Amino acid sequence: MNAPVSHAAHLRADSAVPRYDGKEKVSGAAVFSSDHRFANTAHAYFVCSPVAKARITSLNTAVAKAMPGVLDILTYQNLRGEIRPSKHIYQGGVVSDSVPPLMSPEVAYAGQIVAVVLAESFEVARDAARRVSVTYEQQPLASTFDSPGVVHQPLASQRQNHEDPQVGDFDGAFARAPVKVDASYSTPTQHHNPMELFTVTCVWNGEELTLYEPSQSNYGKKFALAQVLAIDPQRIRVLCHYTGGGFGSKGVLTYRTALVAVAARRLGRPVKLVPPRDQGFTLATYRAETRHRLRLGASPDGRLTALSHEGWELTSRADPYAVAGTESTTRMYACRNVASKVTLVRADRSTPGFMRAPPEMPYFFALESAMDELATALGMDPVELRRVNDTRVEPIKGLRYTSRSMMQCFDEAAEAFGWKQRDPRPGSMRRGDWLVGWGCAASTYPVCAAPAAARVRLAADGRASVETSGHEIGQGMYTIAAQTAAETLGIPIGAVTVRMGDTHLPPAPLAAGSLSAASVCSAILGACQAIRRRVGVRDEGRADVVAALRNSGAGAVEELFEYVPNGSPAGTAQGLYQGRAWPVVGSRRPDNIQMSFGAQFVEVHVHALTREVRVPRVVAAFAAGRILNARTAHSQYMGGVIWGIGSALHEETQIDRRHGRYVNTNFADYLIPVNADIGEVQVIMVGEEDREVNPLGAKGIGEIGTVGTAAALANAVFHATGKRIRDLPIRLEDLLEPPRA
Ligand code: MOS
Repeated sequence: MNAPVSHAAHLRADSAVPRYDGKEKVSGAAVFSSDHRFANTAHAYFVCSPVAKARITSLNTAVAKAMPGVLDILTYQNLRGEIRPSKHIYQGGVVSDSVPPLMSPEVAYAGQIVAVVLAESFEVARDAARRVSVTYEQQPLASTFDSPGVVHQPLASQRQNHEDPQVGDFDGAFARAPVKVDASYSTPTQHHNPMELFTVTCVWNGEELTLYEPSQSNYGKKFALAQVLAIDPQRIRVLCHYTGGGFGSKGVLTYRTALVAVAARRLGRPVKLVPPRDQGFTLATYRAETRHRLRLGASPDGRLTALSHEGWELTSRADPYAVAGTESTTRMYACRNVASKVTLVRADRSTPGFMRAPPEMPYFFALESAMDELATALGMDPVELRRVNDTRVEPIKGLRYTSRSMMQCFDEAAEAFGWKQRDPRPGSMRRGDWLVGWGCAASTYPVCAAPAAARVRLAADGRASVETSGHEIGQGMYTIAAQTAAETLGIPIGAVTVRMGDTHLPPAPLAAGSLSAASVCSAILGACQAIRRRVGVRDEGRADVVAALRNSGAGAVEELFEYVPNGSPAGTAQGLYQGRAWPVVGSRRPDNIQMSFGAQFVEVHVHALTREVRVPRVVAAFAAGRILNARTAHSQYMGGVIWGIGSALHEETQIDRRHGRYVNTNFADYLIPVNADIGEVQVIMVGEEDREVNPLGAKGIGEIGTVGTAAALANAVFHATGKRIRDLPIRLEDLLEPPRA
């Protein structure tokens, strides 16, 4: 046979094969959801409320309806009973925001859909939408922190499964601590803004509905949509071969999908929605603004004796969404006295939702900034502060980390960065007109895994096919799926065809929580191992599987394998086929703790006069078990780091408090880092073996890259200027005042 054969246990860590879908993507041949064309398609355009907490007092569609090419306009006056409201996913429902549109004249949040215009063309639909006249009577509203009228609720009182981690006696220990930090931090509203818009196309064929929608959860959406439309799930097929960026915004059903499905059924035609960029700020979810109070107490040698993390998170009136990053921050360092509390702050907003490293990004900005403040208070090197507080046992329940390579990450990154050359005195490393700052921070993310199924077929001609409804969201899923099969079956990667993104294929879980590689590839691995056994290959490692298949006389062998993560509740495999595939989260296990770790080092240059902040380089090291493909992993990590730079310096959704409305809903005003903002990003992949996490030993890498970056950058800004910025994003106006003593 052709290539050297290796069993999955010997997958090469440097197997940096090019992307399976690379050529299709760069040549423009890849078909994304709204690229599908159907004869006789009608186009939808939404009219969204410009205000929150209001009542529609008049709604006039006559002018719009009379326009040539307009087919129909759906409003609360004519939509009745076609959509069955659901609860939020955290309350047993299936949607990311439980406020159903077009149910009544009441408007809960700005951006809520109030009319759906259907027309022969996109342009006519858009034009007509602007001629739908709606008047609103606005009630007093509370749009964000400090708005009178927001309601504070402890998360533990609102969510059954949330318990604020704590151990020992924080108050006593903090009171006695010789060295203390007590500081407050905040992070702003942010939006995912994936390149691909939040499009929906629905095609009915009799009683059968096909949904084309960029998705991180094809199976989830099939069952969720069935529930909201009150139809048999087996009548729905979801197709999505590529998703042009998701980051959490395309994982859970929103009612927009149901509205398009209803419109298509009413018209008896395919209906396509391609909403503009600005509507994406409210059609999907967002990262809510957060606030934090960190109190750290330490002995003079740097050992933490007390740690308290209180978090406040904005959410909607309707739904108790929260990320509760205290689950990870309270477990990061050795400490006997830990307290934490998460409080929901409910305002007149749409419900926030998952956004890349949902808990860890904001909560580690706070923790890792506070650790840097503690290092300053102690007169200690920040890397050494992490070293003395490193632990093999998490402090809350005393559970063992299956692997924890945090200090290896610090040491390798520090070496590559040249950290030894750092003069710790703030403002001491000036270069010409630029103040040079060096800062660092730790990263972590739980190892998540969810059930997944895959079908693999190996034919006697040496070709294999892999089938699973998993998701290519740009992370490289097609590539690592093909690699896993090729290496386990001992065939060249070019002999493997991968089919994904179709609910007619075996079910895969939500592509989120950095779990796809571990979950879907574990299923593929299981199927390939079953094929090896079927053709009589008993041992692990090198074997000519194709020759064994030929010798058996069979033309092809096919195996379906269901991977169920260790620690999953009973019924998990059955639930997978019903669109329920909730992950086992590595920070919440009863038996051990499974986390990835990293360390990031950032150099900033702050102009002495203008206070412009530049980031010439970042060195980031991560240890996340086995790396399946060093090329796609590098992109994942680097992309995460760039997100982190964006969250530190650029991204902030601004709100007009009078109306609860976002104002910078475009790429000119919602700042994201561009190429010129990014200097060198060096990614170091620290070797780590962890055989306990899953059969592949892969911990997941999609999100950790963005954790800790903002803190490292803020710590570098402090080192450059002597000014501690505790509120993101860091703007040059924050740095204009002279440093405080
Ligand atoms: Mo991600 S925010 O877990 O899709």
